[in-house]
Amino acid sequence: MENEKKVMLSGIQPSGDLHLGNYLGAIRNWGARAEEFDCYYFMADMHTITVRQNPADLRRRTLEQLAQYIACGLDPEKNTLFIQSHVHQHAELGWVLNCYTMFGELSRMTQFKDKSAKHKDNINGGLFTYPALMAADILLYQPDYVPVGEDQKQHVELTRNIVQRFNGIYGDVFKMPEPYIPKAGARVMGLSDPTGKMSKSAPEGCVFLMEKPEDIMRKFKRAVTDCDTEHCVRYDRENKPGVANLMQIYSAVTGKSYEEIEQEFDGKGYGVFKPAVGEAVVETLRPIREEAQRILADKAYLESVYRAGAEKASYVANKTLRKVYKKVGFVAR
Ligand code: TYM
Repeated sequence: MENEKKVMLSGIQPSGDLHLGNYLGAIRNWGARAEEFDCYYFMADMHTITVRQNPADLRRRTLEQLAQYIACGLDPEKNTLFIQSHVHQHAELGWVLNCYTMFGELSRMTQFKDKSAKHKDNINGGLFTYPALMAADILLYQPDYVPVGEDQKQHVELTRNIVQRFNGIYGDVFKMPEPYIPKAGARVMGLSDPTGKMSKSAPEGCVFLMEKPEDIMRKFKRAVTDCDTEHCVRYDRENKPGVANLMQIYSAVTGKSYEEIEQEFDGKGYGVFKPAVGEAVVETLRPIREEAQRILADKAYLESVYRAGAEKASYVANKTLRKVYKKVGFVAR
């Protein structure tokens, strides 16, 4: 066997600055896996243009994202880090898989419904067929696991349907990937509205990885909790979504269980709890921010990382693409 290690792959769109949801839901579960798995992580720049982007900002954010991946512990010597658009096989397999993805399946995707409601003046074909490109991103590398937050589970499930359909026609072409979803941090909610997921589109409730400690503290102190008079720190997702969210974040960054957290803040109230969560997050993010700033200043290093990453990724992706082209009946070049 050429590759005995299991494979892990994931990506993030550089459509905004990375935030705590991306970190806890995804990136944090990518690091520390490199010994065990063959890991591929990329900047999903092709996906971002389903919504209009400012070109200069997109370029800047893509490189910032790479610096932040490395600062979060993804060692480029041990993980393949690359920019999606540098590996042309993504677009090519994306087209093929479009032809094996049903209109009805795409119509049911929550992200499409959300984004088309938000960008009514630009409901383009790419926004609709985006999950087929995401399936291609995944299947090119034949991964065993796709570590993502809860909101991307539906897209990985669709990818699994595509695998079943495609393999059903052509034999064992693709390996069946599994979503890998963390226990704490799978769905970090907004601090200003704990009924919606943390997202860059609600910046007041969103904590960015590169944000200054004082701004992070301000956001946590202002976090919306519930208005029961006892101000008791208790995990109740239904009736106390704000507190449950803060407990989830605290648990994810400290490793403490909900029972331990309840005990720690027993009788202390939100005035003590909210800044404590803020402090814990600040201390988790501080080394990442400092390291990312240092790496970002070294453009030559970043370039060497994404070039080497694209080369390795292309080699693997090309093997899968050639196999697919042969199976569907394209004449070999
Ligand atoms: P994206 O860019 O929206 O988000 C990147 C990752 O962060 C997770 N995430 C969250 N997790 C917990 N709480 C939150 N509030 C939160 N917000 C975001 C997401 O679940 C995701 O894991 N389609 C993907 C990008 C993509 C991809 C892929 C992922 C493209 N190709 C192939 C995996 C494999 C997306 O839009 O994620």
